[in-house]
Amino acid sequence: MYPGLLIAFEGIDGTGKSTQLPLLATHLRERGLTVAETKEPTDGPYGQQIRALYRDRRQGTPEQELELFVLDRRQHVAECIQPALEQGTIVLTDRYYFSTAAYQGAVGCDPGHIFARHDFAPEPDLVLLLTLPVEASTSRIRNLRGETLNDFEQQEQLEKVASLFASFPHSCIVRIDAARPVEEVQSSIRAAVQQLLVRKGV
Ligand code: TYD
Repeated sequence: MYPGLLIAFEGIDGTGKSTQLPLLATHLRERGLTVAETKEPTDGPYGQQIRALYRDRRQGTPEQELELFVLDRRQHVAECIQPALEQGTIVLTDRYYFSTAAYQGAVGCDPGHIFARHDFAPEPDLVLLLTLPVEASTSRIRNLRGETLNDFEQQEQLEKVASLFASFPHSCIVRIDAARPVEEVQSSIRAAVQQLLVRKGV
């Protein structure tokens, strides 16, 4: 047990996680709470290997890919998440093990097995799962970020990822419709977090 809170942002690419997370962080800090913002894949050695994979996914098998994400997360939990939670910090992470279950699940790994491999990782107090139709996600990536889609982001693949995300039954997951303006999405996020804070007596 630890005094902090762990909140994970999840969802397919282009749902706005990296816009929404800092907005929530600012809001919580304005309320006097201590917040840490973090993300996966990390910038550590395994995260860098993962980024190299984006460029040519055929370099590795799905199992090797899964291995790298798990190694990256082990290091992230041990060096960042766990110590922050022990200090009473509210940790906001952009992606966590639900991403692995969905993305590596979509390339053939068993999601149940992936969840089971994460017994070392603290269960989040709240998962904000941002939902968006896949077509909207890919057009956001192309138009707003001006990027071509990397291998992780191919449309057909993202359909599978989205349906795996939709299938997860965990009670910590709150689904947020991310097809709305940024402020509306943020206001739904704050409402879900407020419920958590009240429940935890923060
Ligand atoms: P993303 O959040 O887009 O990171 P960045 O903004 O640094 O590129 O994540 C990169 C990709 O990695 C994304 O397409 C999802 C994928 N991914 C997995 O396949 N499994 C995982 O466990 C994680 C954390 C990410």
